[in-house]
Amino acid sequence: MNAVRVLKKLRDKFGYLPRRRLERLAHNSGVSIGELHGVASFYQGLRLTPPDAVVEIGVCRDMTCFLNGAPEFHRCLARDLDLQIRTGKVVLGQVSCLGLCNRAREGLPVFTVDDVAHWGIEAAEFQRDILCEPFDRLAKEPSDDQRRA
Ligand code: FES
Repeated sequence: MNAVRVLKKLRDKFGYLPRRRLERLAHNSGVSIGELHGVASFYQGLRLTPPDAVVEIGVCRDMTCFLNGAPEFHRCLARDLDLQIRTGKVVLGQVSCLGLCNRAREGLPVFTVDDVAHWGIEAAEFQRDILCEPFDRLAKEPSDDQRRA
């Protein structure tokens, strides 16, 4: 599959690359959603959000992220961004596995902001600076990589 050609066809049809279409394309083609995101992010002519889009946040709902606190994270986002969600400034949803399972760790699932994936310390900072107090503790704990260093 020529990913660029297929993504350009999607862009021509929708004006951007809708997340659900990318998920379907990944499922049908066997190319990971992470690879498709990578291609879409690299080429300037490919948009992951519609023009004038609101901020879209997607929390990974699949097993590894689920076991690393995705439901709690989603609940915190829904609570803390309630006003923005109700006024249509933020769209909060869930995404399928982004192929970044090894990046998730306790309390820090993988998530996307406008189709850009975040994890680890970025997720911790996002949660600490913007969202939920309970995640402060996790953000301050050294990661497994830091412990080994
Ligand atoms: S299960 Fe979340 S990135 Fe794979």
